[in-house]
Amino acid sequence: VLSEGNKKAIKNLLQKIHSQTEVLGAEALARLFECHPQTKSYFPKFSGFSANDKRVKHHGALVLKALVDTNKHLDDLPHHLNKLAEKHGKGLLVDPHNFKLFSDCIAVTLAAHLQEFSPETHCAVDKFLEEVTYQLSSLYR
Ligand code: HEM
Repeated sequence: VLSEGNKKAIKNLLQKIHSQTEVLGAEALARLFECHPQTKSYFPKFSGFSANDKRVKHHGALVLKALVDTNKHLDDLPHHLNKLAEKHGKGLLVDPHNFKLFSDCIAVTLAAHLQEFSPETHCAVDKFLEEVTYQLSSLYR
């Protein structure tokens, strides 16, 4: 459960990254593809998997925007993420294990780019991504 302090840290961070969703999202995806090449199989239409690739940038921006959009919904993540959970759980059938791998790549990307990634912010980000993962994994039945 996110404490009030965690929420404050997340809100701060999401506000900071809201103008950098493409760069950060593309890098997080590129890290996922590099460190866990099996994840490329979910993106058969991609022709390249580096952070400079057009489709990686486009998709990375979509994903990070979705995270930034949770900013005003931290108290209501289940409802807010319901559509995305349906899409991943019933449509895309992404193995939920991959959410954990991707969460780690997102955290590393944020840490590499943001000075304010203190131990407290790190902890808040981990908890936040765990909640997002829990919700996105909730409709696989
Ligand atoms: C699509 C978010 C994790 C695979 C999407 C979309 C969003 C999104 C916003 C676009 C939805 C739409 O078009 O309606 C997220 C978030 C994640 C996450 C917030 C976790 C933090 C993953 C993981 C994988 C994955 C781990 C697989 C390794 C896909 C695929 C699509 C997709 C294959 C469709 C791509 C396409 O349209 O070509 N995701 N995602 N996602 N996601 Fe995720």
